Parts: sequence; structure tokens; C-alpha cells
Amino acid sequence: MTTVDIPELALVALVGVSGSGKSTFAARHFAPSQVLASDAFRAMVADDENDQSASADAFGALHHVAGVRLRRGRLTVVDATNLQPHARAGLVRVAREHDVLPVAIVLDVPEALAWERTLSRADRTHGRQVLARMQRDLRRSYGQLAREGFRKVHVLRGVEEIDAARIRLEK
Ligand code: GTP
Ligand code: MG
Repeated sequence: MTTVDIPELALVALVGVSGSGKSTFAARHFAPSQVLASDAFRAMVADDENDQSASADAFGALHHVAGVRLRRGRLTVVDATNLQPHARAGLVRVAREHDVLPVAIVLDVPEALAWERTLSRADRTHGRQVLARMQRDLRRSYGQLAREGFRKVHVLRGVEEIDAARIRLEK
């Protein structure tokens, strides 16, 4: 079993391609109120969780709420792909502004499995190429996360390790 140690007060960025199981993992290990999901923020600002044109506004709102939560001392989990440096930079900035540690949890599943899951979902319509690009971004992310300021980078590889992981909050 893999134990994922995170500070009691942290900004946790889930990192993984679409279909890697981020939302499932978040629901399993954290309270709904602790999880800020990009989908939910797109829906909040645009009535459509897949409206990519709403991304800038959605992330602006998400960062704002994350900042408010951290100011109030609340553990906050960001459920978004977080595959690109610029997306993660916003999270590191919010964490730093509030003197809170940014932590990454990477969910790495085989691309074929993520694609299989995508095909069986009604709420996702992206193509194979989009997933392949996300997978390339994920590969690249490994060398970047620590440098970007993530103080701990936990990597869960494969369905079994993800399934068996437990979160331990450090006082
Ligand atoms: P995006 O929101 O598109 O970025 O994907 P995500 O990373 O949040 O993936 P999500 O948690 O929505 O999981 C995608 C699909 O895989 C869902 O239909 C889940 O039911 C399924 N799934 C996720 N985790 C597991 C798992 O551990 N076991 C099994 N059997 N299915 C899983
Ligand atoms: Mg999700």
C-alpha cells in the first residue's frame, strides 16, 4: 500500500490525463467541499462543464476560491488535469501567496486504459489525438513539477497502486 503524506494544510494539485481517475480519487479521499474541480467551475460560469472557451474565467474563479480557502486554513484539492506548466504556475502562486505548501499527486495510468474509459463516458468527447497530447504533457511534467515549486510530488502508477493508496494528513 502506498501512503501519500500531505500536510494538513496544503494545496493539492491532482495531475493526470483525462480518464486517469482524478475525480474518482478526489471523491474517494476528500470531502466534496475540499475539492475544486475545473469542470464544476466551467459549469458555474458558463452552464457547460465542457465549454473550453470558459476556461480562463473558470480558472480565475477557481484560483480565487482556492485562495480564500487557504487564507482560512482549509486543505484544498484541485481536480483538473494540471498537465501544463502555466496551469500549475497559477496554483503554485496561490499557495505561495498564502504560505501554504503546494503538493502534487500524479495519477499515471496506461494511455490505452484512459482511452477505453473515455470511450465509455458520455461526458467526454475529445479524440484520441487530444489524449495522446495529454499523455505527452504528462511525461514532460515529471521533470518539471519539483522545479516549479511543488514541495512534494507523489506519483501513483497504475490502477492497483491508485486503488491501494491512502492519504495521511501530517500535523
Ligand atoms: P477528466 O475529468 O476527464 O480529466 O477525468 P478524470 O481523471 O477525472 O477521470 P474520472 O475519475 O472521471 O474517471 C474516468 C472514468 O474511469 C470514470 O468512468 C470512472 O468510473 C472510471 N474510473 C476511475 N477510476 C477508476 C478505478 O479506480 N477503477 C475503475 N474500475 N474505474 C475507474
Ligand atoms: Mg474529472
